[in-house]
Amino acid sequence: MTNSQRDFDVIVWGATGFTGKLVAEYLLSRYEVGEKVRWAIAGRSSEKLASLKIKLGSSAQSLPMLTADSHDPQSLQELALKTKVIISTVGPYAQYGSELVAACVENGTHYCDLAGEVQWMRKMIDRHEDAAKTSGARIVHACGFDSIPSDIGVYYLQQESMRRFGKPCDEVRMRVKAMKGGASGGTIASMMNAMEEGQADREVARILVDPYSLCPKDKRNGRDQRDQTKPLLDTDLNAWTAPFVMAGINTKVVRRSNVLMDFRYGKDFSYQEAMLTGPGMGGRLKAIQVTIGLAGIMIAGSIDKLRSFLQQRFLPKPGEGPSREERARGFYNLIMVGKIEGKHVLTVKLRGDRDPGYGSTSKIIGESGVCLALDELPVAGGFWTPAAAMGDALLKRLPTNAGLTFTNFDPR
Ligand SMILES: NC(=O)c1ccc[n+]([C@@H]2O[C@H](COP(=O)([O-])OP(=O)(O)OC[C@H]3O[C@@H](n4cnc5c(N)ncnc54)[C@H](OP(=O)(O)O)[C@@H]3O)[C@@H](O)[C@H]2O)c1
Repeated sequence: MTNSQRDFDVIVWGATGFTGKLVAEYLLSRYEVGEKVRWAIAGRSSEKLASLKIKLGSSAQSLPMLTADSHDPQSLQELALKTKVIISTVGPYAQYGSELVAACVENGTHYCDLAGEVQWMRKMIDRHEDAAKTSGARIVHACGFDSIPSDIGVYYLQQESMRRFGKPCDEVRMRVKAMKGGASGGTIASMMNAMEEGQADREVARILVDPYSLCPKDKRNGRDQRDQTKPLLDTDLNAWTAPFVMAGINTKVVRRSNVLMDFRYGKDFSYQEAMLTGPGMGGRLKAIQVTIGLAGIMIAGSIDKLRSFLQQRFLPKPGEGPSREERARGFYNLIMVGKIEGKHVLTVKLRGDRDPGYGSTSKIIGESGVCLALDELPVAGGFWTPAAAMGDALLKRLPTNAGLTFTNFDPR
């Protein structure tokens, strides 16, 4: 059955989890049931799905539900054949995600997820890229806070640069100016799993630090070095910066986008991310604090016993995460500095109106799934990044539907 003849446009697999439930809430509020988008929820337990429908309220009563378990490949094949697109929120992806990607690739089903697990993304690309090109499946990882604001933010900035200067910026620096939100059990489990894999396997450790590890094999070089690991002064913004925990994922996705779009940002393009901690001595002290805090987390996460102690005693468990009030109070403000030949020429501000990890992420991936199902896109089957597959379409959808605002300024 071809992709266009399927029963559904979108299936949310993992709808019973913390983030999956928010994606279902978002699709319900934005698209209702079967009206504008034919969508369904899926998970491994029909009881949990039925109880989710009750929680979603009376408007969800006709919402179709399907069961599929990551340990049952046949159930995943059947799921993939029912829909144009699967949004997967079943993670850690390295543990539960591989069979679904294989099923989507085999059946020409488009797919997007919230994976931030670079080592797993690399494995999926290497294993299935040729088959996805043949079957027509568009596979897009990293469709949450990591890495859509970074990837689409750079895409937006470069369009603006082309419009104003007739060429792209050869250097972009993303700075997290402010953000408020918490982490869920699933995200903690995914981060801990990546650290565990990195410790056990030197090749995984290399993939996690190589700035170009997500780029195609013959295009894994450029002028970027490893992500920032210490406090540094940003002379363009005249403020101190500290390492940003998501940089290790986002920067690799943005660099892959550049390659997949035939070096639209240039062969010499450089991209880095960091947290902005402010000017002067205060900013410097805060940058030192953030750096030490992050190093502490990395060290704790690399010691087996300490990692499981923290997970069991202090950190949220799978299925847990920030409350509705915390998500509504959350937000993020990112600044992108665009430079040409060392000169700061453009500043883009990007704001998200909910907490990054869940409130905003659930809207962003919901829109990505609908976009893959319904929009005219410039790419055929293969493993794409959000910007390479959906750049223009998401630049329309995210500000209109998902609470993202892009504003550009001339530098002061
Ligand atoms: N990139 C981003 O910005 C971002 C943001 C948020 C989350 N994430 C990622 O999204 C993933 C989910 O996070 P979360 O907090 O929502 O996790 P969660 O609450 O633990 O949910 C995990 C989901 O996976 C399902 N599941 C577990 N094992 C399964 C199996 N064998 N077969 C089928 N389904 C199975 C669970 O089903 P049950 O309900 O039946 O247990 C649940 O629906 C994590 O990998 C996290 O890192 C990324």
